[in-house]
Amino acid sequence: MTDLLGNMKRTHDCSELRDTDIGQEVVLMGWVQHRRDHGGVIFVDLRDREGITQVVFNPTVSEAVHGKAQEIRNEYVLGIKGKVEARPDDMINSNMVTGAVEILVEELRIFSQAQTPAFQIEDRVEASENIRLKYRHLDLRRPQLKNNILARHKASMAIRNYLDNNGFIDIETPFLTKSTPEGARDYLVPSRVNQGQFYALPQSPQLFKQLLMISGFDRYYQIVRCFRDEDLRADRQPEFTQIDMELSFVNESQIVEIAEGMIKNIFKAVLDIDLEPPFPQMTYDEAISRFGLDRPDLRFGLELVDVSDIVEKASFKVFASVVQKGGLVKAINAKGCATFTRKQIDGLTDYAAVYRAKGLAWIKIKDGGEWQSPIAKFFTDEEKDALRNRLDMEVGDIIFFVADQAKITNEALGQLRNELGRMLNLISDDVFEFTWVTHFPMFEYDETEKRYQALHHPFTAPQEEDIDKLDTDPLQANSRAYDLVLNGIEIGGGSIRIHSTKLQEKVLNCLGIDEKEAHEKFGFLLEALSSGAPPHGGIAFGLDRLIMILCKEDSIRNVIAFPKTQKATCLLTDAPSNAASTQLQELAIKTIKIEE
Ligand code: AMO
Ligand code: AMP
Repeated sequence: MTDLLGNMKRTHDCSELRDTDIGQEVVLMGWVQHRRDHGGVIFVDLRDREGITQVVFNPTVSEAVHGKAQEIRNEYVLGIKGKVEARPDDMINSNMVTGAVEILVEELRIFSQAQTPAFQIEDRVEASENIRLKYRHLDLRRPQLKNNILARHKASMAIRNYLDNNGFIDIETPFLTKSTPEGARDYLVPSRVNQGQFYALPQSPQLFKQLLMISGFDRYYQIVRCFRDEDLRADRQPEFTQIDMELSFVNESQIVEIAEGMIKNIFKAVLDIDLEPPFPQMTYDEAISRFGLDRPDLRFGLELVDVSDIVEKASFKVFASVVQKGGLVKAINAKGCATFTRKQIDGLTDYAAVYRAKGLAWIKIKDGGEWQSPIAKFFTDEEKDALRNRLDMEVGDIIFFVADQAKITNEALGQLRNELGRMLNLISDDVFEFTWVTHFPMFEYDETEKRYQALHHPFTAPQEEDIDKLDTDPLQANSRAYDLVLNGIEIGGGSIRIHSTKLQEKVLNCLGIDEKEAHEKFGFLLEALSSGAPPHGGIAFGLDRLIMILCKEDSIRNVIAFPKTQKATCLLTDAPSNAASTQLQELAIKTIKIEE
C-alpha cells in the first residue's frame, strides 16, 4: 500500500536539531515560512508547531529535487529527507535555536500547495483583527498566538496535576440544563422533543458542584466551558473557561490556601516564576475606599482620598451639596503632573464622564505653592490648609476631585486612577500583584429593577454575625464571598455556600423570590439541601483571563483558539446564522422581526 508519506517518517521536529546532530540523516515535515533563491541554491525556512529549521536545495546534490523545489511557495506543506550540515560561520543565526545547522535536502515531497495567505504569517502582522479572525487557522500559525495556546496547555496540565495531587476529582456536569443565575442573560436551547420548552446553557456549574458535595464527592474540579450572554469586552467572551472547584468541610482559609497553591504552580509551569503566597487580603470596604473599585490594581499608588469632611461647608456648592445629600467627595493626587495641559485635563474629564462623573475639578500646585484651579477661589484658608495636609500637596502636583453619590464617585475616580496609571507608565506587565478581596456585601440595590441583586450569587452564605441583618437591613449584611484580583483584573471568585434549606429560602426571599418561585426554580437544590448537606464552599477562576495576563495580552481573544467578536459572532464559521425553516418547524419556533 502506498500513501502520500511513502517511506518518509518524521525523525525530528523543526526545533530540535543542533550542531551535535551534524552528519545525521533526518526527515522533517512542516510549512514553508519563507523561501529564498540565492543564485541557484534555494533556502527554505521550514516551520512546525515547535520551531523553524533551514533546509537547503542545492543542484549539486540533486538536479531533480532542486528543480522541484522551484515550485515551492510560502505556506506549502513539505516533507524533506536530508543530511544535517554545519552552516558556514558567516551564516550562523544565533537568534534561532536551530541556527547552527541546516539540512541539505536529498528528497522532497510537496504534500500540499497553498494559496497566497491573506496575511503574512509573522508577529508583525498588519492585517485587521477581523481579517485575522476570519482566517483564524492562519492566525494561529503565527508565533504569538501559537505560543499563547501552548502556554494555555501548560497551565491546564499544571492545574490538573496540582488538583489531582490534592485529592480533587474531575466530574463533568451538563451543558443542557436549567438556568444558573450568575448575573448574565442565559443562552437558551430549544427542545424538539418537548416543544416550546428550553434548556439554558450553564453560566457556571454552580448548582451541580453543590449537588456533588451533597452526594459526597468532596473535592470536585472541572476545567469547564461557561456561557453568558452579556455585553462583551476585552476580558469577556460569551463562552469562556472556568477552573471550577468545590470542597466540603472547609472554611475560607483552606480554600484560599488551595487556590494560592494552584496559582503558584501555574506561574511556575508557564513562566518559571516562583510566587510566594499567602497573597495579601483586604475587605471590599477597604478596596472601595482606597482604590474606588473592588478589583484594585496594586502595581501603583495614586490612592483615593476622602475629603468630604473638609469641603462639607465650602462655598463651592457642587461639593458642599453632594456631602449634605450623603454623597462623597474624593480626590487623587497625581504627583508631579501639574504639567498636564488643558487638553489632557479635558481628556481625563471625558474619561471620568464615561463612568458618570458630572465633572472633574482640579488644582495645580504652581512654583511658590500657589494654586491654579477653577475652584480655588471657593475655599477658605483653613479649608485650603486641611486639603493641603490631607492630600500631601507639593509643588508640581495636580489634584483631581469627583463629587457624587458614593457609587459614582468611587467608580469614576477608581477608573480615572487606572487611566492615570497607564498614562504615567506606572504599570508594568512584568509585575504580578495579587490581592484577595473579602467580605463583599450580600446584596446591592438595582435601581432599574427596583430590587436587591446578589453581589456574588444567591447561594453564597452571609457572615455568621450578619444573618440577623437579612431581616432588618439586608444591604448591611456581608457575605462569605472572596475574589482573587491580579493586576486589577478579577481572575477568580467564590464563596462559602449556604448549606441549610431555611437560610437558602430566606436569602432567595431577600432577592424577591417567593416560596412558590423558589421551588419552581431551585426546588431541586432546596430538596437536596434538606437531605444532609455538608458545609461546603469553592471558587472558580477565569482560565482565559489568567492566561491573558500570563501571556501579557490585552484581550482574552488572543488566548482562545476560536474566539468570538465583540458582537458575539464567529467570523470564521459565520455563526450565528439562520436556521432552515424545517428545523424551526420541528422546534415549533417562529421568528419575528422587531422594529427598532
Ligand atoms: P464568577 O461569576 O465570579 O463566579 O466567575 C468566576 C470567574 O470567571 C471569569 N469570568 C469570565 N471570563 C471571561 N468571560 C466572561 N464572560 C466571564 N465571566 C466570568 C472571571 C471570574 O472571576 N459559580 C461562581 C464561582 C463560585 O462561586 O465558585 C462563578 O461563576 O475571572
Ligand atoms: P462649574 O462650576 O460647573 O464650572 O465647575 C467648576 C469645576 O468643577 C469644573 O472643573 C468642573 O469640571 C468641576 N465639577 C463640576 N461638577 C463636579 C462634580 N460633581 N465633581 C467634581 N468636579 C466637578
